[in-house]
Amino acid sequence: MTRRLPWIIKYRPKRVADVINQEQAKKTFLQWLESWLKGKPSKKAALLYGPAGCGKTSLVEAAAREHGLEVVEMNASDFRRKQDIERIAKVAATQRSLFARGKIILLDEVDGISGMADRGAVDAILHLIETTRYPVVMTANNPWDQKLRPIREASLLIPFKRLTERDVVIALKRICSAEKIECDEKALREIARRSEGDLRSAINDLQAIAEGYGKVTLELVRMLSTYRNRQYAPFEALKNLFNAKYIFQAKNAVSQADVDYETMMIWINEHIPTYYDDPEEIWRAYEALSRADVYLGRIKRTGNWSLLPYVFEMMGPGVAFARKIYRYKWKAFRSPQRLQLLAQTKRSREIREGIARALAPSLLTSRRRVKTDVIPYLKIIFEKNPKYAAKIAIGYGLTEEMIRWLAGPNARQVLQYYRKYKK
Ligand SMILES: Nc1ncnc2c1ncn2[C@@H]1O[C@H](COP(=O)(O)OP(=O)(O)O)[C@@H](O)[C@H]1O
Ligand SMILES: [Mg+2]
Repeated sequence: MTRRLPWIIKYRPKRVADVINQEQAKKTFLQWLESWLKGKPSKKAALLYGPAGCGKTSLVEAAAREHGLEVVEMNASDFRRKQDIERIAKVAATQRSLFARGKIILLDEVDGISGMADRGAVDAILHLIETTRYPVVMTANNPWDQKLRPIREASLLIPFKRLTERDVVIALKRICSAEKIECDEKALREIARRSEGDLRSAINDLQAIAEGYGKVTLELVRMLSTYRNRQYAPFEALKNLFNAKYIFQAKNAVSQADVDYETMMIWINEHIPTYYDDPEEIWRAYEALSRADVYLGRIKRTGNWSLLPYVFEMMGPGVAFARKIYRYKWKAFRSPQRLQLLAQTKRSREIREGIARALAPSLLTSRRRVKTDVIPYLKIIFEKNPKYAAKIAIGYGLTEEMIRWLAGPNARQVLQYYRKYKK
């Protein structure tokens, strides 16, 4: 069964030279690391910061590999608890034995601790920095939170640049030719544009499309990309939709929204009861939305794009004119609860951890990597391509609960294939 590597793992930089377009950061970081190895660091910790998917963690891993250092790592979900940081601090403070390999202590994504729940974590990290005998490296997207100030002051700050669209396109092209897949230049540019410099999400999108369809075209990119954990709120689109006076306004609201059709559907789904209170209106709106869903499913199965206008018709005017009389309503739009609930509950975190545990050994990578890099990719596959998802699930021995978690609204379909293939 399918056990192909996620490209995000397969193509991660092996050497410092493979980390593209971060020359200044690389230079500063390597100088600092070498000063540590000579025993005279200017600061005992370094804080690498910059947008997601621009090479921070990759640089640490590549530099460690080149210097023969072991990476002792922790990510945000682990250092919410003070005891865990103290455990790492103990390892870090221990004098290395003569034959042991040197280490880098990596606290990945420390901005995850800036919430109130993590009082004590900052102190524990400062203590770790004071007592460590090994270089301590932290990464963050946003290092400017007030809570992190003491950590900033104790660290060498190393900024990373957002990758440009050009950088992203070049990286994607390289992967396309290594994988021998047909990639339309325009499609790659579109992926790059949507990634906003986040190469991790760009590579995940590329693979999700290539593996699902065997080629990468602009049309497929438009259809499939953007389901990411990012909290993009198509507030404008929702407001325009629910307050449309004319059919064309409702249609434009959905066809011009800056998210893919399925994400838009989740948002609309979530807001029908917020916006309508009359049961009949609610019923009619859901009816229209589920028709849109049926059409979209048919398009995906058959590739028959001529049905797309019907999807817009149902999602837009179908939902907007479910109301009996026009009245302008202002509502504070929430982000979709289904997405939030999935991300927040304890059980959900356990499942995520379980998936990481199941995949890490065969992907030859850490559980942290699986959580940050592989799971977002799997979510795309599981939500878009049930057959392929079912094969992956069997290949990696995932449970039905894990499948449900990964596939969300698509779970039933994936499970059908899963049970069929399993026989
Ligand atoms: N500057 C870069 N050079 C080469 N590959 C990169 C770069 N930035 C990101 N990537 C790719 O994206 C993936 C995620 O990068 P990572 O270093 O984990 O990002 P982050 O900055 O969020 O830590 C890597 O596995 C790699 O494939
Ligand atoms: Mg990272």
